[in-house]
Amino acid sequence: MPPCTAAPAAVLLLVLAPASAPAPVPARMAATAATATTATTAATAATAAAAAAAGSLSPQAELGRRLFFEQRLSASGRLACASCHDPANAYAAPANAGPVMRGGARLARWGLRTVPSLRYLDDTPRFTRHGYLDTGGDREDIGPAGGFMLDGRADDLGRQALLPLLDPAEMANRSVVELAARLRSLSYAAEFAHAFPAASGTVTGPGALAAMAAAALARYELEDPSFHPYSSRFDRYLRGQGRLSADELAGLALFISPSKGNCAACHSVTTGPQGRPPDFTDHSFHALGVPRNASIPANRDPGFFDLGLCGPLRVDLRGERGYCGYFKTPTLRNAARRRYFFHNGRFGSLREVLRFYVRRDLDPALWYPRTRGQVRKFDDLPARLRVNVDTSDAPLNREPGDAPALSDAEIAQVISFLKTLDDAD
Ligand code: HEC
Ligand code: HEC
Repeated sequence: MPPCTAAPAAVLLLVLAPASAPAPVPARMAATAATATTATTAATAATAAAAAAAGSLSPQAELGRRLFFEQRLSASGRLACASCHDPANAYAAPANAGPVMRGGARLARWGLRTVPSLRYLDDTPRFTRHGYLDTGGDREDIGPAGGFMLDGRADDLGRQALLPLLDPAEMANRSVVELAARLRSLSYAAEFAHAFPAASGTVTGPGALAAMAAAALARYELEDPSFHPYSSRFDRYLRGQGRLSADELAGLALFISPSKGNCAACHSVTTGPQGRPPDFTDHSFHALGVPRNASIPANRDPGFFDLGLCGPLRVDLRGERGYCGYFKTPTLRNAARRRYFFHNGRFGSLREVLRFYVRRDLDPALWYPRTRGQVRKFDDLPARLRVNVDTSDAPLNREPGDAPALSDAEIAQVISFLKTLDDAD
């Protein structure tokens, strides 16, 4: 099990007390916080990025915007990227959707995973088996990290965009040729030449046209400010423009504290590249042992398992049993707006998620089914792979009889902190 304990120095970059509203920094953290990046640096970079982004979109991104909302790119004619990634819901599933979405040529196929938000993906590194966390002096190996999709199988947003377009359970183009035909028939197909002038005048084959569409979608996701607004109350707090309540600050301290929530060990609170505010993920992968979700149609087959890194959707690590059950650590920005949590949408509230984190090992019967009187812990993994589940990182390192890492009152405080991560829209 790769360790996931970021050194306090890295974690604390955050407690970044803004000048106008000093955070009550716990004494033990205060010394490190003084040497940490200041809120002003983060704020200035973010403001600059926002100002740059607020200008008009490049022609490629403008084309990408039209494609993102284009239902005619799907075999059903009724599914656009935006049908699953709702701009009104931080680009996660629409508010009234179930844990997984329906797609395919006749909209009769159910997906396997909940729809992640498309916000704050810009800093996602490429997938590697050995991600490193810079903790000041040491570089700590956090194991597999990076890549897009919950199993990291797409290296960049351009490659990612082709996956839903060609997925038989999503937009269901049977081939790049079929996709290119749909692209050519769009009333605004001429915009491709405008967006990609270097390619105009030459004969564009189906592969090249599909690649342009994917690149345009990626440019839209990278350029449009709605994908990285940094408009949450927490961001305002970091910029010194707003305050957090006593409960929210207590929740933040519990979130960071290695002996309490230890959440920041994976949902990092360090500033990102160019001083961008934290994205609440270190992009690492872990097996948390989330219980099976019987409401996902694929799970009706007791022999079927979604194993994340080792398949079935990702194919290159199929033989690597040690990675089975691993899923990507998501950002927690806008998580409080979600209706379903974790890759399989098994939980329906943050309270359940938090109780799972701190009581998984104390009271497993709360989450897992019993067969012949025995609680089947980690029931969404075949028995031989259950050893992969993280039992070393707090708060997932408890034994029956231990006290939970967070009391119910502390859970409520962590939740009030998480709600400050919701963007303003
Ligand atoms: C039928 C619903 C559906 C449609 C349509 C859809 N997506 Fe997704 N999207 C998902 C789901 C579910 C996932 C997680 C998939 C996985 O991990 O295998 C996802 C993942 C992603 C990710 C990766 C996010 C991350 O955290 O790494 C990106 C980026 C993305 N989609 C963009 C798009 C674009 C662009 C389109 C249109 C071309 C699109 N999606 C169409 C459901 C959908
Ligand atoms: C060992 C690393 C690790 C630690 C520690 C950790 N998380 Fe997570 N978190 C993850 C991973 C990995 C996932 C995705 C798991 C999955 O989908 O199966 C996740 C998912 C979540 C989700 C669901 C988000 C979504 O979009 O569905 C929430 C909420 C969450 N974590 C909050 C917390 C909180 C609060 C804490 C502290 C009590 C915490 N996490 C501690 C790694 C971690």
